[in-house]
Amino acid sequence: MKYADKVNDRLKKLLLVPKYKGLQKTAEAAAYSLNAGGKRLRPELCLEICRIYGGDTQKALDPACAIEMMHTFSLIHDDLPCMDDDDLRRGKPSCHKAFGETAALLAGDLLAIYPFEIIADCGFSAEQRIEMVESLSNAVGLYGMIGGQNADTLSRPETVGELVGTYTMKTAALIRASCEIGCICAGAETKAAEEYGENLGIAFQIVDDILDYTSDEKVLGKPVGSDKEKGKATVFSLCGLEGAKDLAREYTAKALEAAAKLPDNAYITELTTKMLTRIN
Ligand code: IPE
Ligand code: IPE
Ligand code: MG
Ligand code: MG
Ligand code: MG
Repeated sequence: MKYADKVNDRLKKLLLVPKYKGLQKTAEAAAYSLNAGGKRLRPELCLEICRIYGGDTQKALDPACAIEMMHTFSLIHDDLPCMDDDDLRRGKPSCHKAFGETAALLAGDLLAIYPFEIIADCGFSAEQRIEMVESLSNAVGLYGMIGGQNADTLSRPETVGELVGTYTMKTAALIRASCEIGCICAGAETKAAEEYGENLGIAFQIVDDILDYTSDEKVLGKPVGSDKEKGKATVFSLCGLEGAKDLAREYTAKALEAAAKLPDNAYITELTTKMLTRIN
């Protein structure tokens, strides 16, 4: 990934473990999950979209890191015993396995709140910072990731339409916001980038669901067969492998169609196409 090193360096500086022992464990648990690796797809999209619209990627680094923190919060809570109950994440024991449930819960809370402070303090105009806060909070709210996680865990999508609706909220909303925030950083119109991000995000979750059945724990860095074990409704359980692959191709094609409307889009196009090769 083009920007991963810069993102990793900045993340380490943004989240420091305080000297006071009474505060340390939550910060350590958050830093553990944040620095465990990960593809850094969301900050990558934010920074590249900022660049193609002529924005300053150095200045956009903090909002991009804020997005990665928010994503990491979602992973820490997603793995908890009351959610997907998964013990491995980013090739390491999940946060609650390494630090216990209380610290993992608090680490997730921290990584959901701190991004707003980072955005509030970053170097963009007040208007841009408000737009970023609005975009990010919508993406993780009841009509975004949190609503999607509700649909995923507390109800059971029964049709492909309902499932795509769930993916749009739980996964695509944050990916779409990553693209939108890249545009906001560059002072650009957001429509084409949002359309791109939403379709990429849906395709991304479909691919993730397929990999849960077909991949390897060592490659993924997280358990395989977890959705099956928990009886989750996924595109795979509803449509089978070929049906799920067709749907992944369909949403990737929509993402590529939207990507074609973006300026200087070679890297975005390559990244989008590459994602699909994960299931071939
Ligand atoms: C995992 O996201 C959660 C989903 C939305 C499928 P990623 O596959 O981007 O996880 P990391 O950041 O690389 O660990
Ligand atoms: C995760 O979906 C969506 C989130 C908002 C975290 P999954 O539950 O399929 O993600 P993984 O497979 O655990 O990474
Ligand atoms: Mg889940
Ligand atoms: Mg999960
Ligand atoms: Mg999954």
